[in-house]
Amino acid sequence: MTKTQLFRLSVVLGSVFMILLIIVYWDNVGMAHFYLHTSFSRPHPLSTLPSVSQDEDHEDLSDMDEFLEKLLISSQKQKGLLNRKVEQTSPQSSSRPVLGNLEENVRGYDWSTRVARLSLDQEKLQAERRRTLREFCANSSFSFPTKERSFDDIPNYELNHLIVDDRHGIIYCYVPKVACTNWKRVMIVLSESLLDQGVPYQDPLDIPREHVHNSSTHLTFNKFWRRYGKFSRHLMKIKLKKYTKFLFVRDPFVRLISAFRSKFELENEDFYRRFAIPMLKLYSNHTSLPTSVSEAFRAGLKVSFPDFIQYLLDPRTEKMAPFNEHWRQVYRLCHPCQIDYDFVGKLETLNEDAAHLLQLLKVDRLLHFPPSYRNRTASSWEEDWFAKIPLAWRQQLYKLYEADFVLFGYPKPENLLKD
Ligand SMILES: *[C@@H]1O[C@H](CO)[C@@H](O)[C@H](O)[C@H]1NC(C)=O
Ligand SMILES: *[C@@H]1O[C@H](CO)[C@@H](O)[C@H](O)[C@H]1NC(C)=O
Ligand SMILES: *[C@@H]1O[C@H](CO)[C@@H](O)[C@H](O)[C@H]1NC(C)=O
Ligand SMILES: *[C@@H]1O[C@H](CO)[C@@H](O)[C@H](O)[C@H]1NC(C)=O
Repeated sequence: MTKTQLFRLSVVLGSVFMILLIIVYWDNVGMAHFYLHTSFSRPHPLSTLPSVSQDEDHEDLSDMDEFLEKLLISSQKQKGLLNRKVEQTSPQSSSRPVLGNLEENVRGYDWSTRVARLSLDQEKLQAERRRTLREFCANSSFSFPTKERSFDDIPNYELNHLIVDDRHGIIYCYVPKVACTNWKRVMIVLSESLLDQGVPYQDPLDIPREHVHNSSTHLTFNKFWRRYGKFSRHLMKIKLKKYTKFLFVRDPFVRLISAFRSKFELENEDFYRRFAIPMLKLYSNHTSLPTSVSEAFRAGLKVSFPDFIQYLLDPRTEKMAPFNEHWRQVYRLCHPCQIDYDFVGKLETLNEDAAHLLQLLKVDRLLHFPPSYRNRTASSWEEDWFAKIPLAWRQQLYKLYEADFVLFGYPKPENLLKD
């Protein structure tokens, strides 16, 4: 082989190598871009919000995260200009604010200062709740199961309560028995994920209940794997960093009473078969039970609140299956030490919190939080409900739900835990 031939060969090999490199690179960029492309249909509405944490050290992003993040930012910039133009000319978005102004003028009331004052108090409250959460997550002498694991160690199926709205950049972790039907409705309207005769629902209250709780209606984190494959965890982390994340909580004991009332005091075929029959057999010494809930109710066979509490405390329960979501601890549903929530709402202050949150999300002109007319379980009933529960059980129950009490700033119910 002459020197020229050798030279030619190396040029050819070099070129082939470069071409391969380019193909691999474009393949990755193309794919990532395709997935990220649909994520933002408008500029991120929350980039100017003070409440979105910028001061915290997020865990270091890997190279891949950084790469995806840059892509995301550049595609956002490109779309920023475009969307602003679209919004200016869009008849729908311009007609609503005008209506709003009209209302303000007609009523002759200075809403702007009222709203500002409300927001200030609300912001303080939020800062307080988020500080409590962070403090106890960081406090090593306060521990509970799964506290120390990292986000990467949370299995996909445990991320099934995180609902994503890519249109507005919102993530909602739903907690059953904490106004979750209405918040899911809000998420459906915002993400336009459900159509009514070809048109997305505009009013949360128009959405039928059975659709609200159908999991195929919502894009949840546990479905990312199917959609995005090997990119799913990176995408989750980017979305968790960029989007506004919120959840709603409630006094843990009151939530248990509420769960009991709705699943065992009302006729519920599914809960009767899956939970009431085993409880009645184990704790009330029944051997043969009717197969339908209406028959059981007619025969006076109902799970009592003490049966339910005994079921929660029974070590066999968790061995069979993890707690049902209606009584599973919030820390297990929403991973508050792994996910840095921007907003912690409480059922006890639902109306104020909802108004503030929709304002923060800048969607308060689009929809209102649906009012709730149902007979809500009140905190003042707690003593009556727990009167028949032995003291030792109450103390064990507190231990079981202690993390939820502490992380979300609910005082320890001393009156129930002492003689
Ligand atoms: C950490 O948690 C323990 C136990 O809950 C508590 O006694 C202590 O005051 C906490 N420390 C801080 C700094 O909050
Ligand atoms: C949930 O929705 C999907 C798609 O709309 C439908 O095929 C399915 O039957 C629904 N499931 C239930 C339990 O209603
Ligand atoms: C449960 O029922 C069986 C017979 O059906 C009876 O022998 C037993 O004493 C009962 N146990 C309790 C604790 O009531
Ligand atoms: C709400 O429910 C409680 C107990 O279930 C009942 O005592 C009360 O009368 C109900 N209130 C209304 C307004 O229905």
